Amino acid sequence: MTRKPMMAGNWKMNKTVGEAVVLAQDISNQFKGTWEACDVVVCPPFVDLKPAYTVFEFDRVPISVGAQNVYWEESGAYTGEISVPMLKEIGCEWCIIGHSERRGYFGETNEDVNKKAKALLAGGLKPIICCGESLEVRDAGDTLEFVCAQVRAAFAGIDAAQAVKCVVAYEPIWAIGTGRTATPEQAQEVCLAIRETLAELFGAESADAMRVLYGGSMNPGNVDMLIAQPDIDGGLIGGAALKAPSFVQLIEACI
Ligand code: 13P
Repeated sequence: MTRKPMMAGNWKMNKTVGEAVVLAQDISNQFKGTWEACDVVVCPPFVDLKPAYTVFEFDRVPISVGAQNVYWEESGAYTGEISVPMLKEIGCEWCIIGHSERRGYFGETNEDVNKKAKALLAGGLKPIICCGESLEVRDAGDTLEFVCAQVRAAFAGIDAAQAVKCVVAYEPIWAIGTGRTATPEQAQEVCLAIRETLAELFGAESADAMRVLYGGSMNPGNVDMLIAQPDIDGGLIGGAALKAPSFVQLIEACI
């Protein structure tokens, strides 16, 4: 099975609306390849979602937008939260959930990630489910067990028909924003274990169809080695997604 590669930019808490519009325009103008060969997604802050979506719609480039978080209730007294229908109405197709920064700084648990995944799927959005170990877990030799447990928890109660719409992003915490990338072998080992876990849960055919991304200091210099691995289907990019030339180079590497 050949899986379509995917490059997703996680802008994190960067870019005002004005800056987001400029970056979105630069990405759509600078890419000269065939968009169909790779699914491209940008995940800006909430306030930038509609402006970025509008740029891509106006330029007629098939770049999808995704949020970086969501709450699982549809509406109500949840001050500060954003729901699935709100995201859907402004053209959002994807949503990152379970990023290590949300788990680490904001106390997001495996159970929260599972509730968010179910709410997104019920509302017609596609989750990008993040998982990844700390350096302590890696040094203790527990990486595969830890990451696969995160994956099982995120997908609890979700059936194969829904699961195939999801993307899993393996992001070792020690590689995020540190310039210290996992070696292709390290990344492949974990992405393979993730796919085997997906096969246990949903069957080999579904697991084979699902995309597993790598994230953590991926950049134009190391992307080729990483995406050459059989179980790495693209990237979830932080720093290198904040400048159009490097993000465009990453997309081109997937084609
Ligand atoms: P960096 O690419 O900046 O390491 O960030 C990766 C990441 O956390 C994407 O979600």
